Amino acid sequence: MPATIIMGGQWGDEGKGKLTDALAGQSHLVVRANGGSNAGHTVVTSAGTFKLHLVPSGILNPECVSVVGPGVVVDPPSLVRELVALQARGITIDQLLISERAHVVMPYHPVLDALEETHRESGEIGTTRRGNGPAYSDKVARRGVRIADLRKPDRLDKIVREAVAEHNELLTRFYGAQPLDPDQVVSDLELAAQFLRPFIGDAEARVQEMLIAGKRALIECAQGPMLDVDFGTYPYVTSSSSSAAGACQGAGIAPVHVDRVIGVYKAYSTRVGAGPMPTELHDETGELIRQRGREYGTSTGRPRRTGWFDGVAARHVARWNGVTEVAVTLTDVLDVFEEIQVARAYRLDGEETTAVPSLVDDYFRVEPVYETVPGWQQDVTGARTRSDLPENALGYLRTLETFLGAPVTMAGVGPGREQLVPLTADAAILGGSIAR
Ligand code: GDP
Ligand code: IMO
Ligand code: MG
Repeated sequence: MPATIIMGGQWGDEGKGKLTDALAGQSHLVVRANGGSNAGHTVVTSAGTFKLHLVPSGILNPECVSVVGPGVVVDPPSLVRELVALQARGITIDQLLISERAHVVMPYHPVLDALEETHRESGEIGTTRRGNGPAYSDKVARRGVRIADLRKPDRLDKIVREAVAEHNELLTRFYGAQPLDPDQVVSDLELAAQFLRPFIGDAEARVQEMLIAGKRALIECAQGPMLDVDFGTYPYVTSSSSSAAGACQGAGIAPVHVDRVIGVYKAYSTRVGAGPMPTELHDETGELIRQRGREYGTSTGRPRRTGWFDGVAARHVARWNGVTEVAVTLTDVLDVFEEIQVARAYRLDGEETTAVPSLVDDYFRVEPVYETVPGWQQDVTGARTRSDLPENALGYLRTLETFLGAPVTMAGVGPGREQLVPLTADAAILGGSIAR
């Protein structure tokens, strides 16, 4: 019956996809909880690289039920393209289930996303322009289209025409933009719906039945808590909750079932889009990290901003989410450094603080106060057990634990499935499988 949450610890792209895939072998179901096609979760196996956006990262595990949860916003044609591409690579999608309660990213949402960005007085947030923000806005404003509305052609036709008419008013009157053709929108969505209908169902009921039957669930979050709409660097955030509490809500799994909250943190920091990032490096060290970590967005291809590990933000995230254990990924990227910096505090108006400012103007002004940790200057990509890791690498992970307040139980040493080192005896039995 227990459920495990796999959530990011920073600004997204921490390796949640890789970890979800690695633990899916020990789980009966994986439920994606939030976000939409703004997410890009990478899994690298012997069959190649898989970049998943809406499909849960358990999909490469054929026996695992993969659920697109109620908290996700789904762009149906994008989901169809993703599924068809997976099928073309020999991946079975029979175990996919799409929640009827999930909301639909309509074709006007990406248009509005781009318009909102260019009209924002304070400048761009740097969204992925996938329409996530406008889709979540419509959901909260109670004018969203839900997956359940796509189940029958009649209903789809009626609901979609009403929604397009309403949004065309906004597009033309407020933004002076072109209206969308309702016939085209209906026919594109109907085409996607025809493919998706067999997978649409009461996912929440199925998940509850599985939990009651003692099955194990993984909840896969998208984004990272520093992008969370409530606790992140607002307004430079995404429009959903990428937290542990949000994971339960978005997956339709009660908190009482959760006995493990795995925070996935990179060994350094990255961020895509605008917003504060105190440890960002604008020099050759930042560029070296970008090149070694191949830090380019999985969804948009944008270069990611890079910097040292931010212990202040990391502690904030770990405490508020009740992180019980940590996977530190991309440890191998730091292999070449003689010394590594970790921000142990911020300096704001001349004062040292370990508080995370709630006012974004203050957050932009903080400067990191670093502590220096010796590097290991050794290739760790071949490490498979704790004893393969150099003492200084283990020392670095211990330093991170002092900020995280939770044990680091796994270390990523490369993008491959097998490049995840269990650090404790009771850490995940990677690649293991369970009775189904
Ligand atoms: P997600 O959004 O959290 O699933 O992460 P992304 O897939 O967007 O970005 C993580 C990137 O790092 C991907 O390119 C992964 O293949 C890669 N990756 C994951 N873990 C490791 C690791 O331990 N070492 C290295 N070098 N790459 C990793
Ligand atoms: P995964 O799940 C990194 C960022 C965008 C932008 C902000 C708002 O792969 O970790 P949005 O399109 O959501 O309205 O953009 O959030 N962002 C991500 N950054 N990884 C992601 O997802 C992200 N999803 C959104 O770059 O700064
Ligand atoms: Mg990503």
